[in-house]
Amino acid sequence: MKYVKVGFFQFAPTFGEIERNVEYVIERLSPVEADVIVLPELFSTGYQFVSREEVEALSEDIPHGYTSHQLTELCREKGFYLVAGMAERSAGKVFNSAALFGPDGHIVTYRKTHLFFEEKLWFEPGDTGFLVFDIGDARLGLMVCFDWFFPESARTLAMMGADILCHPSNLVLPYCPDAMPVRCLENRVFAITCNRTGFEERGGKERLAFIGKSEVVSPEGKILMRAFDGDEEIAIVDIDPMVARNKQLNRYNDLFKDRRPEMYGWK
Ligand code: ACM
Repeated sequence: MKYVKVGFFQFAPTFGEIERNVEYVIERLSPVEADVIVLPELFSTGYQFVSREEVEALSEDIPHGYTSHQLTELCREKGFYLVAGMAERSAGKVFNSAALFGPDGHIVTYRKTHLFFEEKLWFEPGDTGFLVFDIGDARLGLMVCFDWFFPESARTLAMMGADILCHPSNLVLPYCPDAMPVRCLENRVFAITCNRTGFEERGGKERLAFIGKSEVVSPEGKILMRAFDGDEEIAIVDIDPMVARNKQLNRYNDLFKDRRPEMYGWK
């Protein structure tokens, strides 16, 4: 059995202060020993955009922008993998993305499929489809925040072979922390949901309070680690990702082999 150290860094990014947020992540993660760490959604920019100009000014190229460069250096020094939620600019479009970085640099970028609320004003719907990447000791699947509300997201990643759902988030609704154990149970996968804390209330818009409660969940739906709602927290837990490769519930039932798509007459 080979244990892998996985976890999250839950904190409150400061809106618009990319360098400050990135430097803070580097400072806090530099002493941490881990294999895979997930950061919040839009960790470098903050969440509540109020204009298209603002989104364009704060979004960055991945992997050639400042944030990608800094995270690549951090992963190279530490030898770990990071999943970071970022505003990605590409060919005049902006996406709400999750980028995977490792000791050899940037690996893949997933663009959020299901946009939430006013994200629909600022971001293009993701065009990458769901992505799974094998880091050797585990296969990581990428999804972003509101994607959780669509069971197809976790199912697709699990069917693609993901062992661990890496899930940068900026949750404002209360449901996700108690729903992820079901997503994990029905797909027999691990999940790392990294949420943020604090609140934003910009440009006369409604106050958004982020609910914290980042967590690591097992394929049995057990919450292995959960952060409090308002506290900054780095949490790392040892898991055996190979547990997620066995979809057998008992000697008669295999969660994947027992699926009957011919009976699911919908698109
Ligand atoms: C969300 O998708 N940020 C709720």
